[in-house]
Formats: sequence, structure tokens, C-alpha cells
Amino acid sequence: MKLILLGPPGVGKGTQAQRICNMLNAVQISTGDMLRSEIKSGTKLGEKAAKIINKGKLVSDDIILEMIENRLFINAKPASYILDGFPRTIPQAVGLSKMYEKHNEKLDSVILLESPEDIIIERLTARRSCKKCNKVYHLVTMPPKKDNICDVCSGELVQREDDKPETIKKRMKIYHEQTMPLANYYRENGLLKTVDASGTPDEVHENVKKILKC
Ligand code: AP5
Ligand code: MG
Repeated sequence: MKLILLGPPGVGKGTQAQRICNMLNAVQISTGDMLRSEIKSGTKLGEKAAKIINKGKLVSDDIILEMIENRLFINAKPASYILDGFPRTIPQAVGLSKMYEKHNEKLDSVILLESPEDIIIERLTARRSCKKCNKVYHLVTMPPKKDNICDVCSGELVQREDDKPETIKKRMKIYHEQTMPLANYYRENGLLKTVDASGTPDEVHENVKKILKC
């Protein structure tokens, strides 16, 4: 199955992508995680991306499309995957459609996760991730067993640089301006399914399962 998870920053794309991947034996492909890994490795791309991400802006479409084409069709060819955080502009969606045409493949579904903005902002503000293994926590709904220590690898938990209040506001604005139009793009293609993502992670997962009929 080839799915896109669409939705605003902090709505729970990463959280749900992992659950769907476990359920369908699929691979999670998060452009945000890929960029953060470049930053961690100190590559040229990482250096460039860090400046953009920390301002809450989007990395350029050509960089992202090249990264995705390598990941989906060149370096490896996963049969089932969830695209988390990609596409997020119309040129990226058009670029992806062209890749599918070229490689004679097709997308199965696009799931739009929706939740009121106050819930999303609370989720982002309380998010912490492990510096070492990147596992994501929430200080209230998914806290670590020991304060600031990862349950899995004992790494230190940190707040993402772009989860500061001013940057969250910018990311939300960009989401409304540049990513929201994708809902109509995929609705017109007959691929869009909307899911209420305001409940607990388990409730949202149940909503996703119903929509995917699995
Ligand atoms: P990216 O990493 O993709 O960030 P995002 O889209 O802003 O989304 P987040 O990862 O912040 O949130 P999420 O929806 O995954 O929520 P999560 O599951 O973590 O991108 C970062 C940046 O990289 C972009 O701003 C841009 O600069 C760049 N970039 C990436 N892709 C790009 C692209 N395609 N083009 C251009 N630039 C790109 O959950 C959030 C928190 O809530 C967690 O603490 C979690 O534990 C908690 N939580 C989740 N679900 C629930 C629930 N149901 N109830 C309670 N708590 C919950
Ligand atoms: Mg994420």
C-alpha cells in the first residue's frame, strides 16, 4: 500500500505513520526525519536545511523531490510505505505524480488528519524527542518513565528547535498557505480521506483503520 499522511504540524502524522506501518508492514518515509538526520550528520544539505527548518520555513521543492525520488525509486524500492510530511506544496505533489507515471506505479490513498489548532499547539509544545534514537514523547500523554530520559536507549530528551512558540506560528501559517491546497488537489483525484485526529492516539488509529478498511 502507498499512502500519504497529510496534516498540520503536530497533528500526529509521525505517531500514526508508525502505527500504520506496524499494521501494514510498511515503511515510514518522513522528509522531516530525513532532513533532521542530515543535520545530525553535519552534511552540506543538513547545514542548509537547519537554517530553513529552524525559521519554520519549507526546504526547496527541488531538494525534497530529489530526496524522495532517491528514496522511493533509486536507492531502494519499498513496496509499501507511508509518506509523512511529503508532499507539502503543489509542485511537490505534481512532481510525485510525474514520478509515479514514469515508474508506472500509483498512490492508493491520501489521509488528511484534522484537529483543532489549540490541541495541535499543545501537542507540539509538550513534544520531546530522544537525541540519540529519535523516539517521540509527549510530556502529558506519552511521558517517559524517567524525566528527560528515553525509555528505549537512555538518551537525553530534547525539544525540537522548531517547536518554539514563534516558530510553531510560522509553520502553521505556511501549512495553511502552501500545504492546505493539497487537500483539494487530492480530493479532485478522488484519493482524499479525512480523519478526525483530535482524540487519543488509539482513537485516531481506530479512525484510520476504519477509513482504510483494515
Ligand atoms: P516535519 O518533521 O514533517 O514536521 P511537521 O509536518 O511540522 O510535523 P511534526 O513532525 O511537527 O508533527 P507530526 O504531525 O508528525 O506529529 P507527531 O506525531 O510528532 O517537518 C519539519 C520541517 O522540515 C518543516 O517545517 C520543513 O522546514 C522541513 N520539511 C519537512 N518536509 C518537507 C517537505 N516535504 N517540503 C519542504 N520542507 C519540508 O505528534 C506531535 C506530538 O503530539 C508528540 O509529542 C506526540 O507524542 C503527541 N501526539 C500525537 N498524537 C497524539 C494524540 N492523538 N493525542 C495526544 N498526543 C498526541
Ligand atoms: Mg513528524
